[in-house]
Amino acid sequence: MRKKIIAGNWKMNVKPSETAALVTGIAEATKAFTNVEIVCCTPAIDVAAAVAAATGTQVSVGAENVHWEASGAYTGEISTGMLLDAGAKYVIIGHSERRQYFGETDETVNKRATAALKAGLVAIVCVGETLAERDAGQVEAVIVRQMKEGLKGLSAADAANLVIAYEPVWAIGTGRTATPDQAQEVHALIRRTLGELVGVEAAESVRIQYGGSMKPGNAAELLAQKDIDGGLIGGAALKADSFAAIIEAAAKA
Ligand code: 13P
Repeated sequence: MRKKIIAGNWKMNVKPSETAALVTGIAEATKAFTNVEIVCCTPAIDVAAAVAAATGTQVSVGAENVHWEASGAYTGEISTGMLLDAGAKYVIIGHSERRQYFGETDETVNKRATAALKAGLVAIVCVGETLAERDAGQVEAVIVRQMKEGLKGLSAADAANLVIAYEPVWAIGTGRTATPDQAQEVHALIRRTLGELVGVEAAESVRIQYGGSMKPGNAAELLAQKDIDGGLIGGAALKADSFAAIIEAAAKA
């Protein structure tokens, strides 16, 4: 049985001074749901405040990006060691917004994921097609390419700390969700591809999250799918009540 994992991606929202209240609100509202792994991935500048508020609760903290080098002259970047030192345990890698706006490629995803996993962070690696790619019938080609290039060189042991997030770009922040069948089809493809990369047994243990307008109203039907093991939540993770309602749906799935 794969433990469900619900992670919030705060994106560029929530100030350091607002962080403790949100984390505490989430922890309070989700105390009963001990069978779900709960993560808040925050802007780097919020990580320390989030860790302080999450300590002693069932909530864990992650970041939204990480550099692959351990230290050095990389102005503006943050290393795996810095995240771990601050108490982060997770990191999102290769989010479509980073691919779209900040030059992220499958190659840099691979460098970040490799560094994060070697350092002992849980890497939440994002894949997903654009609407143009879906309309052109390229879903499988795009997902398989992102997986094979982004996860190149990873072993079955690395897979123990790997989470994949399937985020169809056309569903992010649009209010338009993949149907449970559409999502399940791609999640199954992701698991098959993982099997080729790290072996079937390791692939069976990797959690695959759905992301893209997941909300309290649609979480249960998505999480009921065989290969949907959680969610990566944007907008609905910014309020304790809506995030907690998704976690409740995961607890009951
Ligand atoms: P929304 O939930 O706001 O659509 O964002 C999804 C997402 O990008 C999570 O990483």
